[in-house]
Amino acid sequence: MNELDAIVDSAKTSFVEAATPVDLENAKARFLGKAGRITELMKGMAALSVEEKKSRGAAINVAKQAIEAALNERRQALAEAELQAQLQAEALDVTLPGRARGNGGLHPVSLTMERIEAIFGSMGFEVAQGPEIEADWFNFTALNTPEDHPARSMHDTFYVEGGSEKAPNLLRTHTSPVQVRHALQHVKQHRALIEAGLPMPEIRVICPGRTYRVDSDATHSPMFHQCEGLWIGENVSFKDLKFVFTDLCRTFFERDDLVLRFRPSFFPFTEPSAEIDIQFQSGPLAGRWLEVAGSGQVHPNVVRNMGLDPEKHIGFAFGMGLDRFTMLRYGVNDLRLFFDGDIRFLSQFR
Ligand code: PHE
Repeated sequence: MNELDAIVDSAKTSFVEAATPVDLENAKARFLGKAGRITELMKGMAALSVEEKKSRGAAINVAKQAIEAALNERRQALAEAELQAQLQAEALDVTLPGRARGNGGLHPVSLTMERIEAIFGSMGFEVAQGPEIEADWFNFTALNTPEDHPARSMHDTFYVEGGSEKAPNLLRTHTSPVQVRHALQHVKQHRALIEAGLPMPEIRVICPGRTYRVDSDATHSPMFHQCEGLWIGENVSFKDLKFVFTDLCRTFFERDDLVLRFRPSFFPFTEPSAEIDIQFQSGPLAGRWLEVAGSGQVHPNVVRNMGLDPEKHIGFAFGMGLDRFTMLRYGVNDLRLFFDGDIRFLSQFR
């Protein structure tokens, strides 16, 4: 093998051994660079005759072209390998399932509210809403609550700015004021009938919503939820209250054997009044009496404040705690869990 062939062979081997573009460029320099083997051979021709230069030069050129061809081939191979490696590294698995964003859900107390609205809806009750910042008159006075009643004290009621000393504003302590507002509206709407002594369509309404009292422990929150109900007509009695509330509780808890107890009590706005207790016949709470609502026949003074004649219009009212119903339905024993906003707790009700 002559000298030039040996150089070409050596160059090809070096190029193949170069694992990276940088290695390859270094190898190139050893053959084609300023101090490379081929360049040195060119320089060495200076002393030759013109004839010798011609043939020697041609031979060196052939060797040089062979080296350049090998270099280009290796450059392309390395570039291709680099591209493949990059494609591999950035590969996307288009068959992977997407990252799901879990579905939201209603708050457990909202679920209870919806359920209760549906059950009462099936019994012909409308749903009424009213303001959470309420006037003292609607929250207390219209409901026959005496001036010196303890519920009116600063200890139980949140008073807010905006009213006068005689007519303060407050955060409603129950949704009963919505019943008064609704009844007044109803009476206004049917004034012509009432004045003519004709029968008025019955008032049958529930008022769900947020209520506020100065109270805070495992079973009381300063903000809680109530649903009050009112049914007024010409012949609505305590018997109807018992029927409606029994039907509500049995449907809500899905227990046909649920037992109710109406325990005599006192409220300024009803007479007679009763606390309603329920008893499950099976499950973890079986046998215990659980208080779930206040109720009674609407007091004549309240009927009058609604713009009606208590000699003619009678009926019942009740007020139930929606949070309490939710706790009993799902077996939750700390009310505060409902209002902490902890997604781990809330997502269990989806
Ligand atoms: N308003 C009463 C309360 O908040 C409940 C109630 C409503 C009682 C209607 C009797 C009749 O405790």
